[in-house]
Amino acid sequence: AAKKVAALSELKPGQPVSFTYPQDETAVLIDLGRRVSGGIGPQGSIVAFSALCQHMGCPVTFEAGRSHLVCPCHASVFDPARGGDCIEGPSTRGLPRIALKIEGNAVFATGVAGGLVYGRGCNRT
Ligand code: FES
Repeated sequence: AAKKVAALSELKPGQPVSFTYPQDETAVLIDLGRRVSGGIGPQGSIVAFSALCQHMGCPVTFEAGRSHLVCPCHASVFDPARGGDCIEGPSTRGLPRIALKIEGNAVFATGVAGGLVYGRGCNRT
């Protein structure tokens, strides 16, 4: 199901926006400030991922300096510019991507791609 998660005009590069998706699970939207694979928006720079670490489910945080998503529990690191790939373990899987679309000034989450959100048996709402 589509869910409005941000206003396009309020996004700032490097400043993440937290939301929940598909239901109460924490997720994060980031304008990376440069065109990236799978990015949307005027510069192809906006991406979103489940923010639940694929190792044991801790919520990851965005480190603007490295432009990475980092897990505070056991230090897994994920690269939002590379589809949420895990680039440092112990997680063995990347973060599931949240599909986005833009309508006018609204950014909507429309689905989950690339794996199950941590703790779920199904990504449907
Ligand atoms: Fe994230 Fe362990 S829960 S690295």
